[in-house]
Amino acid sequence: MKFKLIPFLAMLLAVNYFAHAQTPAAAPVVLKIDASKVVAKVSPTLYGIMTEEINHSYDGGLYAELVQNRIFKDDPATPVHWSLTGADGTGTMTMDDTQHISDTLTVCLKLNAIKADGKNPVGIANDGYWGIPVRPKTTYHASFYAKGDNVPLTVSLQCNDGITLASAIMNKPISTRWQKYSVTITTDADVKPSANNKLVISTSKPAILWFNLVSLFPPTYKDRKNGNRIDIMQKLADLHPTFLRCPGGNYVEGNSMATFYNWKKTVGDLSVRPGHPGTWKYRSSDGLGILEYMEWCEDLKIQPVLAVFAGYTLNKEHVDPEGPEMKRFVEDALDEIEYVSGDINTPGGAMRALDGHKEPFALTYVEIGNEDNFDRSGSYDGRFAHMYDAIKAKYPKLQLIATAKINSRKPDLYDDHYYRRPQDFENDTHHYDAHDRNGPKIFVGEWASRIGNNVPTPNLECALGDAAWMTGMERNTDLILMASYAPLFVNVNPGAMQWRINMIGYDAMNSYGSPSYYAQQMFYQNIGDAVIGSDISGIPDVPHIAAPPRRDPNATTPPPPPPAPTTMPSLSYTVTKDTKKGIIYLKMVNIMGSPQTVQISLNGVKEVAPEGTAITLSGNPEDTNTITEPEKIIPVTTTINGLNTNFSYTFAANSVTVLQLHTKN
Ligand code: AHR
Repeated sequence: MKFKLIPFLAMLLAVNYFAHAQTPAAAPVVLKIDASKVVAKVSPTLYGIMTEEINHSYDGGLYAELVQNRIFKDDPATPVHWSLTGADGTGTMTMDDTQHISDTLTVCLKLNAIKADGKNPVGIANDGYWGIPVRPKTTYHASFYAKGDNVPLTVSLQCNDGITLASAIMNKPISTRWQKYSVTITTDADVKPSANNKLVISTSKPAILWFNLVSLFPPTYKDRKNGNRIDIMQKLADLHPTFLRCPGGNYVEGNSMATFYNWKKTVGDLSVRPGHPGTWKYRSSDGLGILEYMEWCEDLKIQPVLAVFAGYTLNKEHVDPEGPEMKRFVEDALDEIEYVSGDINTPGGAMRALDGHKEPFALTYVEIGNEDNFDRSGSYDGRFAHMYDAIKAKYPKLQLIATAKINSRKPDLYDDHYYRRPQDFENDTHHYDAHDRNGPKIFVGEWASRIGNNVPTPNLECALGDAAWMTGMERNTDLILMASYAPLFVNVNPGAMQWRINMIGYDAMNSYGSPSYYAQQMFYQNIGDAVIGSDISGIPDVPHIAAPPRRDPNATTPPPPPPAPTTMPSLSYTVTKDTKKGIIYLKMVNIMGSPQTVQISLNGVKEVAPEGTAITLSGNPEDTNTITEPEKIIPVTTTINGLNTNFSYTFAANSVTVLQLHTKN
């Protein structure tokens, strides 16, 4: 008993200390900055974003489509998200797989309106992705394929209680052959914003009708056809990323060889995109496909990091590196690269032009697979080698990213992933300091501080861990060329999330940035082009308890004692400079529950403007933002005065701070 209790008590004491302690600094904390010493050039692509279809990131998220299950393939047995409208017994609605429009649109919805008149229309309704957002003075574009009896159809946005908010009559007659129909619906100024709505297509006359590819779009970011949600894109634009890793994560792998991410099925008109079962337990419409990823980059003026399928799937199937399937996937990757970046005279470029985008997209980085370290067969080296040789032969300038150790070739970059507790990041800010500088560069393609269960987005405690980790990445930007937090998005509705802790949350109406989003925004927006010399002393330590070793859940032996507490610094920081503008960015992360004063001296500059700016994110570690309280923790910008080449600054408790100092040489 005694042996077990002592480590347990030690841990409790340490946890308590960690949460509340205010270790009195024996000596003042002194930070000496040498602005004349450039330690590293900041990678121009250091901070970016990573994306995959997870947590309804696209369908029910960024992709603005409002109709869920638009081609009736989400469930083979029943038309989920669709319902029949009208009085009981006046009609029927069934799925029908005998009326093909094409090889893609093979299942449609059959409406038999048996009894219908002007007062008692009969129709089909879609409930959207956790509702259909309706706002005042807004124009929606509805479209669908239909055939059947020649009756006028009404397309309307209705409250779930049946009240019509806006409607339009389809003036083109329905014919006995499949045709595409489109109409716009505009809401009045007095419509109250709400998501408690459905899309209804109805007839006032008895009729038999078939429908397919039923779509409804609100206004989109930059008015893109088949485009993205405005509020979420704006949040991304406000972050100031430099690249988009797409499509990243498990999504590019697929659960099996039958469902890997086949990019060719994600391009072209929506009527030729069958969608596919994604890796995160729901079907992807692929309305946001390869072209849309590129347009997303174009709209944000950032570059793509294109991830290609590399012959390994999540169920641990892999292709033989020397076999014919590998050849096929190498060809697919080459075709994909050409589709993205080839000029219009190449077959891929011509295909892209036909899809609506003549100009090639600039491409520098291609990632081969995802987390291939889980492929214990050892096939990745061979699979990578074939991809590498073929891509480099055709596109020698492309930088190729490996996702696991490669011996036979030298990848340009390795993609490292970290999902850790905040304190583990805080304790490991020097992770890359001693890393080999002669080998491949590093892309930290997924990372995030994670705590809690069923939490859609991180709290301030996580943001502090994230910020501490970013100080280390920023300091090592000569090695780390790129970094992206993951996952990016989560729909916060019950049942929409598969992965806890994501950067940006939303429902049908609103979106919000987590404290981690804001910590990253502070880093992304305040970076400059050079890491400059610095030295710090006197930082008080706080305890750190290592994560307990992973245990086999079926283990019968008694658990080992918890790891003994060690210590870690309570402050982490980085200093960069915009050498053209003379602005020095000092970023400081204080994980102590009390303010800390730092004496700062600046050498290598003639002058420091007396007025500077402080941007601070702080609060209680457990504080967070939510869909109903989206701005509880946001950065606060203040002007600071009395700056000089020597000054002291008190960093708030539990805070991430950026000081902008204007200097002259
Ligand atoms: O980001 C969530 C998942 O974590 C990614 O899909 C995968 O690459 C990683 O394991």
